[in-house]
Amino acid sequence: MASTLITGISELVTNDPHASDLLGAVVDAALVVDGDRVAWTGPAHLAPAADTAVDVGGRAVLPGWVDSHSHLVFAGDRAAEFEARMTGTPYAAGGIRTTVAATRAATDEQLTAHVAALVGEMRRQGTTTVEIKSGYGLTVRDEARSLAVARQFTEETTFLGAHVVPADTDPGAYVDLVTGPMLEAAAPHARWIDVFCEEGAFDAGQARAVLAAGAAVGLRGRLHANQLTYGPGVRLAAELGLVAVDHCTYLADADVATLADSGTVATLLPGVEFSTRQPYPDARRLLDAGVRVAIASDCNPGSSFTSSIPFCVALAVREMGMTPAEAVHAATSGGAAALDRADVGRLVPGARADLLVLDAPSHRHLAYRPGVPLVTSTWLGGRPTGALVGPS
Ligand code: NIG
Ligand code: FE
Repeated sequence: MASTLITGISELVTNDPHASDLLGAVVDAALVVDGDRVAWTGPAHLAPAADTAVDVGGRAVLPGWVDSHSHLVFAGDRAAEFEARMTGTPYAAGGIRTTVAATRAATDEQLTAHVAALVGEMRRQGTTTVEIKSGYGLTVRDEARSLAVARQFTEETTFLGAHVVPADTDPGAYVDLVTGPMLEAAAPHARWIDVFCEEGAFDAGQARAVLAAGAAVGLRGRLHANQLTYGPGVRLAAELGLVAVDHCTYLADADVATLADSGTVATLLPGVEFSTRQPYPDARRLLDAGVRVAIASDCNPGSSFTSSIPFCVALAVREMGMTPAEAVHAATSGGAAALDRADVGRLVPGARADLLVLDAPSHRHLAYRPGVPLVTSTWLGGRPTGALVGPS
C-alpha cells in the first residue's frame, strides 16, 4: 500500500483520548497515511519517510467532521416557512407533511441527485462521515426507497418512519404500520431506527414500541427528543441505553443527571435554534455535568437547512457556551461516539485517514472567522476527494 507523509501542519488535532489536552493537539506536526488509514502522527522533526509527501503550507489539519444527524432525502422547498419564522411565526412539527408530499412525488433519480448535491456541500465543508435518515416518505414504499437512496452515500442510515403521523391517518394504525410492514421493508437498508418523540409527533409509549420493534430486527435505537418542549424522550433514551439522543434543547435538571449517568450522547443541533429562533441548548450545563456532547447539522428543509458543520461549530461557541476546542471535539469525536464508531473522528494510528485541511493556523479560526470557507481540502480514506459517493 502506498504511504503519504503530510507535512507543514501548523496544528494537528488528533483527538487522541490519551493526550493531556482535549484535542490531543500537536503543533508543527506531520501525519503519515498508509492506504486508507493513519499510520503515524507526531512532531514533524520525528516523521518517518513515506512513498510520497504533501506539504499543506502551515495549515491546521483536523479529523473530518462526523455529522451524526441529517435528513438529506427530501424534495421541495420551505423557504417561505423560514421567512415567516423570522418575523415571528413559531416552528411546528406539522411542516414535515409539506416535505412529505413533495418527496413522494419525486423520482428516485431526483432524490439521489439532490442527496448527491447536499453530500457534495458537506464534503466541501469537511464532513467525511454522515448519517442520513428517512422520514419524508411515511409509506412502506417511500420509506424503503428513501433509505435505499441514502445507502448509496453512507452506511449510517436511519429508519425514521416515526417522524410524524401522516395527514388523515389514525396514530395507532400508523404505529402498527411503522412497526410492521414499513419496518420490514426498511430494515435491509438501515443501521439505526429513530423516533421523533415530541408533542405533535409521537409520545413515549409509541416511541418505546417503535424502538422495541426495531431492536427485534437488529436496528439500534436513537431518538429526537426534548426539541420543542420538556418531555420524557431524554429519560427514555437513557433508560433504554441508547447510543445518542438528539436535540436536548429543553432539559430539566433530572434529565441532565440521567444523561450523565447513562453515558448516552447528547447531540446538539444549533442550526435548528438558529433557524427556528428557539433558545439554544445549554452545552455548558451538559459538559459541566459530565454528559458526552456531539454537534451535528440536522440538515433538513424545515428546521435547519444547513450542511455546514463549521457554521454549527461557530454557533456552539458563540451561543452555547462551548470553547472552540469543545465544539471541534463534539463535531468529530462526539459525532463518532454518537454513531458508536471508533474508526472515525480521530487521527491516531489505525483510524481512517478522513481529515480536513483548514486555511488557518488553528481550529480556533472556525469560530473566530464565521462564515468564511476555511476548509481547503477534505481527505476521505487517505486521499483528497472530490468524490461525492462512498460510504464512510
Ligand atoms: O430534526 N424534529 C424533527 N425533525 C426535523 C425537522 C423536520 C422538518 O421540519 O422537516 C428535525 O428538526
Ligand atoms: Fe432531525
